[in-house]
Amino acid sequence: MDKILIIGACGQLGTELTLKLRAMKGRDSVVATDLQNEPPKIVGDGPYEPLNILDSDRFHEILSTHDIKEVYHLAAILSAKGEDNPKFAWKLNMESLLTVLEAGRNKVKKIYWPSSIAVFGKDTPKENVPQKTIMNPDTVYGISKLAGERWCEYYFQKYGVDVRSLRYPGLIGYKAMPGGGTTDYAVHVFHKAIARESYECFIEEGTVLPMMYMEDAVRATIELMEAPIDQVKVRSSYNLAAMSFSPMSITTEIRKHYPDFKITFVPDYRQKIANSWPASIDDSEARADWGWRHEYGLPELVETMIGHLKDTIVVS
Ligand code: NAD
Ligand code: SER
Repeated sequence: MDKILIIGACGQLGTELTLKLRAMKGRDSVVATDLQNEPPKIVGDGPYEPLNILDSDRFHEILSTHDIKEVYHLAAILSAKGEDNPKFAWKLNMESLLTVLEAGRNKVKKIYWPSSIAVFGKDTPKENVPQKTIMNPDTVYGISKLAGERWCEYYFQKYGVDVRSLRYPGLIGYKAMPGGGTTDYAVHVFHKAIARESYECFIEEGTVLPMMYMEDAVRATIELMEAPIDQVKVRSSYNLAAMSFSPMSITTEIRKHYPDFKITFVPDYRQKIANSWPASIDDSEARADWGWRHEYGLPELVETMIGHLKDTIVVS
């Protein structure tokens, strides 16, 4: 079995992807890496190496030591955090991708790199955004993801690097907290409702954004990576969709379980980012090319999140 390396394995997505890939392929086939010396307990006890992906010598050392053939490169600075230090967000998001793509020209056979709905901007249509459309992102994160998509297609066309990518919507899971995005409210709101605390939401009540339950996102990622090469026709990044909702509509759904849950809306700088993103995405190319189907809509998401979190969160 080809050995897999995950970069950014301790993040919101990396935690769940590492656990799933280890469950499918065997603990020792998946080498987790991230900045810290030790992984959080939840990532488990498979192989782990500290790695700052800006240190390309260390990256190559890990590739050789473990004879890595597949890389999932998840490390990035997300939309909200990126605005604090745009130059560093650009450096991390771009330099690291180019390091990984270069490795694809040598021993690494397959690469996964995620893009985002942040590639779209305020000139993009709001509803059912097609695969190819006006982009013009407004955040440094979105600019880096759009440039990254162009680099992925370039490396595929020029060097035959088998790099695959998805434009994720906002991801919602219960195993790890989100790391600095605009859609993070959709995870925080569960923690507050279950703790019987009120929540001050930084996005306006009516702002609709595309979202996805983490299990669907992890399955989409693995299905894309395992699809036969001739089915992967988009080499920039595939649109991917499941549901769209606003802070008020998720609150209404949560109140079916916690009727007394109180939320207030105090939009901050993240509102402007949310306003620049579309409300819904047309992912028909992913559905047609490699058979993508989402399983979780809003009611299933809310029920599942509460089901998993209610025994772990201390009630105030
Ligand atoms: P996250 O912030 O939760 O995790 C990122 C991880 O990368 C962290 O564990 C961090 O320690 C690590 N990291 C940061 N700098 C690093 C470096 N220099 N070297 C090595 N590791 C480093 O992010 P996430 O939500 O898990 O996102 C993973 C990927 O998915 C990112 O590329 C992100 O753009 C993309 N994505 C996420 C979402 C979402 O809603 N979570 C949506 C769209 C796209
Ligand atoms: N959820 C991510 C963010 O808000 C989208 O890429 O930044």
